[in-house]
Amino acid sequence: MMEPPLFRGFKPIADAFDENAEIVLYQGGVNDLLTQVPDDSISLIVTSPPYNLGKEYEDRVSIERYLETQASVIAHLYRVLRHDGSICWQVGNFVEDGEVYPLDTLYYPIFKRLGLKLRNRIIWRFGHGLHASKRFSGRYETILWFTKSENYVFNLDAVRVPAKYPGKRHFKGPNRGELSGNPLGKNPSDVWEIMAQEWEEAIWDIPNVKSNHPEKTDHPCQFPIELVERCVLALTNEGDWVFDPYMGVGTSVVAAVMRNRRALGSDQEAEYVQLARERLVAYFNGTLRYRPLGKPVYEPTGREKVSQMPEEWKQNAQASLLERPEKYE
Ligand SMILES: C[S@@+](CC[C@H](N)C(=O)[O-])C[C@H]1O[C@@H](n2cnc3c(N)ncnc32)[C@H](O)[C@@H]1O
Repeated sequence: MMEPPLFRGFKPIADAFDENAEIVLYQGGVNDLLTQVPDDSISLIVTSPPYNLGKEYEDRVSIERYLETQASVIAHLYRVLRHDGSICWQVGNFVEDGEVYPLDTLYYPIFKRLGLKLRNRIIWRFGHGLHASKRFSGRYETILWFTKSENYVFNLDAVRVPAKYPGKRHFKGPNRGELSGNPLGKNPSDVWEIMAQEWEEAIWDIPNVKSNHPEKTDHPCQFPIELVERCVLALTNEGDWVFDPYMGVGTSVVAAVMRNRRALGSDQEAEYVQLARERLVAYFNGTLRYRPLGKPVYEPTGREKVSQMPEEWKQNAQASLLERPEKYE
């Protein structure tokens, strides 16, 4: 996988849609921006919409009302999507009175009614998060990838990952003895292990792990650049428009610019739009810290102090389970 270029020219950032612009950061509601965007113009819409969880940027409403509002936005997004374009809708769960509503299952009929075709339901798996006490702790969210038609862009070679056994050969049939894999690597599959939080080196001693991810800003639910980068590389070509209607601090915009795509984003909060602008400027200056696409997830070696069983737990039942892991392999 090729790294983004090291030497970058600064590109102007417009604040309203202009089809000749390369980057547009719009501060305001997505519906207002959509009135400026022509039909059939956007190659990829990639976003993590508000989840109706009552975060600082949203008012919590009934799930029915939330979905109605989103359905109306999605109908407009459909209009601006190119005939060969894709939508990647990244969501987790809405939780009310302890009951879990998987948002992707509620969104699916909205897209399907418009005639969009599901190509993958991608599992984004991460190792850390809140510890639940009355249900299993949630460790994944999903991305629904839909296309507008049968004729869509899919650049598999741009996102292949290293094969585990590149030297594997066919052991029977007409190709017996020949290499069975692809020299460019393997298909990354529909389960993506991409870190939301980085657990490396010094982080082991610092309680607030989240703030140590190299990309973390003040936004409460930012997604990683590499998650969007993979969608951008696979589903668009250079020069295409990538649009994040709920861009937060501009993660999708940064990912698109890094890969020489044109980038459009909107957010209603001025503070987030300003952070998005600062991240872009840092990218152009070469000072943006980000986790590169394809970097392996850190595995503890067992030597870190924090991965060893504390003295005070050694007597209890959980300690005896953990000290004999071979029984559970
Ligand atoms: C889940 S966050 C997206 C975070 C983003 N993926 C990132 O990495 O920063 C959803 C965002 O939608 C914005 N938002 C909510 N309603 C909006 C609307 N009607 N128009 C534009 N932005 C909106 C919120 O301010 C919030 O930043």
